[in-house]
Amino acid sequence: MSGEKKKALFICLGNICRSPIAEGVFQKTVNDMKLGDQWEIDSAAIGGWHVGNPPDWRALDTMKKHDVPYNNHARQITTEDFNHYDFIFGMDEANMKDLSKRAPKGSKAKLLLFGDFDPQGDRIIRDPYYDSDAVGFEKCYQQSLRCSKGFLESLQK
Ligand code: 4NP
Repeated sequence: MSGEKKKALFICLGNICRSPIAEGVFQKTVNDMKLGDQWEIDSAAIGGWHVGNPPDWRALDTMKKHDVPYNNHARQITTEDFNHYDFIFGMDEANMKDLSKRAPKGSKAKLLLFGDFDPQGDRIIRDPYYDSDAVGFEKCYQQSLRCSKGFLESLQK
């Protein structure tokens, strides 16, 4: 492909559970499709509580289990992100509301609910942070895999 890379940013509340999984899975999906050099991919938080931290151990365990490499740390979304990225994905309706509020007027990025690309129609990637087990993290992985493929397919239409 010629021209600029496409840029995708994955957002959740803390950037330690859902958006790192979405980022890692999307990166692995494009790498497996030999499209890795066509994409710039990152993730970020709505809130600043976990800035600089690695993902929750259950997110890291889930990615390891599925051979998804991950070595990023949490950061908070910036105003510049809205004009740098082509696509900014939220995980739930609260993320979408926060993104709309923060987006500068006329900014470039399309604000998309990641779950809208799930062919099974499971639209919300629920926050598993306060769960007492890792089941919600596995579910987040499965949703991210379906949504990554679904989104990439939607670009070809
Ligand atoms: P995430 O989960 O948004 O999927 O990363 C959360 C992580 C931390 C907090 C909330 C949600 N928190 O309130 O600290």
